[in-house]
Amino acid sequence: MANPKPPYYAEITYDIDNETERALAPIDPEGEPRTWGADAKLGVVGKPLPRVDGLLRTTGRAKYTADIQLPGMLYGEIVMSPFPRARGVRVDAASARKVPGVIDVMTPESTGNDNKFGGGGASLFTDSPNFVGEYLAAVLAESSEAAREGRRAIMASLEADEILPHVVDVEDAAKSDAPRLGRESNEREGRPSDRGDAERGFGEADVTVDLEMRTAVETHACLETHGSVAAWEGESLTVHDSTQSVYGVRDGVAESLGVPQENVRVIKNFMGGGFGSKLGLDRYTVIAALFAKKHGKPVKIFLDRRQEFLNTGHRPSSIQRLRAGAKKDGTLTALELVSRGPAGSQCSRQITSLYACPNVRVRHTDVSVNMGPPRPQRAPGDPQGSAGLEPLLDKLAGALGMDPLDLRRKNFAETNPSNGQPYSTNPLLECYERGAQAIGWHRRRATPGSDPGPVKRGLGMGAQIWNSGGAPNWRAECVVRPDGSVHVRIGTQDIGTGTRTILCQVAAEELGVPLERVSITLGDTNAPYGGGSGGSVTAPSSLPAVHAAAFDAREKLVALAAPLLGAKPEDVELRGGRVVPKGSSEGGLALGEIVTRANVESVVGAGTRTFHPDYRGTSVVSFGAQFAEVEVDTETGFVRVLKVVAAHDCGRAVNPMLAASQIEGGVIQGVCFALYSERIADRALGDFVNTNFHDYRLALVPDIPEIVPILVGPPDPIVNSVGAKGLGEPPVIPTAGAIVNAVHNATGAWCTDLPLTPDRVLRALGRV
Ligand code: MOS
Repeated sequence: MANPKPPYYAEITYDIDNETERALAPIDPEGEPRTWGADAKLGVVGKPLPRVDGLLRTTGRAKYTADIQLPGMLYGEIVMSPFPRARGVRVDAASARKVPGVIDVMTPESTGNDNKFGGGGASLFTDSPNFVGEYLAAVLAESSEAAREGRRAIMASLEADEILPHVVDVEDAAKSDAPRLGRESNEREGRPSDRGDAERGFGEADVTVDLEMRTAVETHACLETHGSVAAWEGESLTVHDSTQSVYGVRDGVAESLGVPQENVRVIKNFMGGGFGSKLGLDRYTVIAALFAKKHGKPVKIFLDRRQEFLNTGHRPSSIQRLRAGAKKDGTLTALELVSRGPAGSQCSRQITSLYACPNVRVRHTDVSVNMGPPRPQRAPGDPQGSAGLEPLLDKLAGALGMDPLDLRRKNFAETNPSNGQPYSTNPLLECYERGAQAIGWHRRRATPGSDPGPVKRGLGMGAQIWNSGGAPNWRAECVVRPDGSVHVRIGTQDIGTGTRTILCQVAAEELGVPLERVSITLGDTNAPYGGGSGGSVTAPSSLPAVHAAAFDAREKLVALAAPLLGAKPEDVELRGGRVVPKGSSEGGLALGEIVTRANVESVVGAGTRTFHPDYRGTSVVSFGAQFAEVEVDTETGFVRVLKVVAAHDCGRAVNPMLAASQIEGGVIQGVCFALYSERIADRALGDFVNTNFHDYRLALVPDIPEIVPILVGPPDPIVNSVGAKGLGEPPVIPTAGAIVNAVHNATGAWCTDLPLTPDRVLRALGRV
């Protein structure tokens, strides 16, 4: 049973040029807030204020989905396949039912017509698993202990009609004697992609270099595992879900259960990490809803840590062969990427769009293996692609006798190289200059490996591009209450990035009230539509929606206040949280007074994210550059990252402290990807051996370098009325490439097999 192509791929590859006119609701100049340009005088927006929910989070009072306990709640556990590939797996439900406290067992047979997941004909369970971790059954019990005991009983009694040969390694899968997983072959060539004529470009080159880069399977490693709590009241279902998309889960649950969307409410309050693995509907949510309906009680299902490693997606591995050609002066004439990897491992965005190069050739082959579907992970494809591209450029710079920074300056793209469009803003050169200065680029040894050692230091850099204009149709409401407080309502969720805070800042700014007077409801499908938090779209899509809603409330307050002040609406204005006669600093009415005196319950402003007339035809992207300093112990192979300077553009940083925090988190995950993280498959067993936080290595506190975030660039005049672009994903992209380059600068060796564990480094150094 094939897994359906997850709907969220469409969401993150969202393309403005394919949007309908309706979606791109044209700006109504009367109904729109004024765009906050570079010279706007703002009081709350742009300030590095602490998170509005910071105290709740640090004192443990913030309720994460995993914390939800409802009266009478039952507990579910998923039984996942221990077989990488089998047919006719039999679940012995009776073995679990014998366990005291176990109430029910769900299997493919027992669910019958209910065994339906999403709208694509997929099932909740299989009896023919194709990877370790596929759903076989679910157990329901009165306690989580009993549910786990029931799961253990089933796991111990599993039998299969046939255990089939498996393959979990991409290179094994290509061998002639490999078990065939696909129809004709385990390999499927992707659509070729060419710009210009790469062969001609290489022909025109004075210098050509090539490089092979390998990257490993990384997992999202969310601290809060995946899970749901489902509760019915009559025909209405409420789901608390640890999700990056409450609306996405609502639609998926409704479709799976065959109930109207309006009968389903999905809530996500606080979240312990998603990183792309929680963008879509998951099976446990549907199972919890089915159990809850059948037994008339709320049901909670959370995956355990090992299950989290097995069946919530991963960043697929890659094998990349890269080639670059340039003229003597460094002008790129051709770039080429030929890559292979498990399904979804395409990683060509950086090579096709970051640098000016007329000829680019991309070929990719997906290879079928028994390891379950990958999922988007923070900048899907890009840390991998960047880890190949940036070292390729440094190798080229070496061959040309050029400084790597000069080579990148030389190939700066004035316009979007894929389509010739102008950029809304492009401060990449400033990212280069400020980053280079902050790291002390002049200290870089021109001759790689010339540090006498044995512990050698080196500097390296990388750059990055990301589409960051956000998505259409996001809506919000701004409610002004009789006490003068303001309440923002928007469906989108705060996945830990600080969305709550920046949205409150925008409402406070537009209505002229202190931030403490603004509260917010988000992560709830009872609030106006806000889409999934993926693709770095949340800030650029939600900020203008809230801005527009606050503006609408402002217009309504002015209209209500004018007659109360005995004036015409055009003669009064809202300033400093009061509606006053134009030009006057005295008198007037506070917002609460207006609501009270107008004798209304509240004043509700509504807003939608709209698009600037020049948006279509403009490339709205964010650039960044990172500079890493590393220390390589050439005797032990240990690499330590000492410092990363990360200069990134996000247009207006509504809250520079939170923007810097996004950069820090991205760099830390980039360090994990470069040096530590690798989910290891046992080729013989087809299982994964390090499915816990002891054996799966993340960067620990002593491994985290000094990180210097630098926010570069003016507010973007095109992206939205706030001038803010997305920043969630960009900072994870260039870190690994910069580290590989720094290791080369330190040692003179190309370590191109990530993560750079000591054994791999020693091998690259020729020491083992
Ligand atoms: Mo992101 S990988 O689009 O959550």
